[in-house]
Amino acid sequence: MANLQPHADTPMLLRIARIHDAAQGIRSLEFEQPDGSELPPFTPGSHIKVQVPNGLLRKYSLCNDASERHRYVIAVKRDAQGQGGSMSLCDDAKEGDLIPVGVPDNAFALVDNAKAYVFIAGGIGITPILSMIRSFGELSNAKWKLYYFTRSPETTAFLKELQAPEFKGKVKIHHDFGDPAKAFDLWPVLERPGDTHVYCCGPRGLMEAVRDMSGHWPATKMHFESFNEGGEVRADDKPFDVVLKGTGKRFQVPVGVSILNVLRQHGCNVPSSCESGTCGTCRTTLVSGEADHRDMVLLPEDLAHQVMICVSRAKSTELVIDL
Ligand code: FES
Repeated sequence: MANLQPHADTPMLLRIARIHDAAQGIRSLEFEQPDGSELPPFTPGSHIKVQVPNGLLRKYSLCNDASERHRYVIAVKRDAQGQGGSMSLCDDAKEGDLIPVGVPDNAFALVDNAKAYVFIAGGIGITPILSMIRSFGELSNAKWKLYYFTRSPETTAFLKELQAPEFKGKVKIHHDFGDPAKAFDLWPVLERPGDTHVYCCGPRGLMEAVRDMSGHWPATKMHFESFNEGGEVRADDKPFDVVLKGTGKRFQVPVGVSILNVLRQHGCNVPSSCESGTCGTCRTTLVSGEADHRDMVLLPEDLAHQVMICVSRAKSTELVIDL
């Protein structure tokens, strides 16, 4: 196991109080203070950074009720095709271990006073949405509906809880059994924008489909969260250079590393939050070069002169950005 010590991103050393299987291939982990004291508060939709046993830093949404002050709960999908972070946490972490954890941050905040909410979750994307639903409590008048898409009942985290009688009529769970032809048709849900806020978290394909179907919605009512920190690595990804207009400094951006992280490694601090292309915090002016946009934020008219440096890459051999 790597030497897990608190550092700037993960200043708290928390104890893993409980681990259990939330579904096939999905583990739930609960963290608490070693002395049982209160944890820093969080709001629904928040995430924490966790340094997993092999040393990698990973970001996970909190799925418990934000009114709970003594525990953080996450659910982790064991991804054998990933970069090893989820496998390390699922396979190597044990109850009682002390793990460095960051203070909660929220790049997917729930608007307080919406007339209605539509939640769209794909797979493990249910986690931040579960925290939102739990925050409504039993007495809430909030009008909401959840559409939750998974492969099969066995791979559906929190299935029992979401099938409870109090959620009758509010939760639609749909399994496609891996067959795209069995995908749920969301068009009737998104056809008519109203006073509703839409929260969508899931795989890239689901989020892009929802974004494409909601182009006629006000952007302020559409909220996306990706669990793919730094963006996914694609087979045809290539290294490229990023050049800072202000100083003329040039850095290479390797495959599998974001522009944001390259800048950080060279001591250049740019504001960020979600680090998955959904919140808009790292928006940067693109001076020249052709970006390979991979975010969910920029509008068509922004694409030629802005870039979200936490996920986007380059189609050209270099990008000059206004830093
Ligand atoms: S940090 Fe959120 S879009 Fe880049």
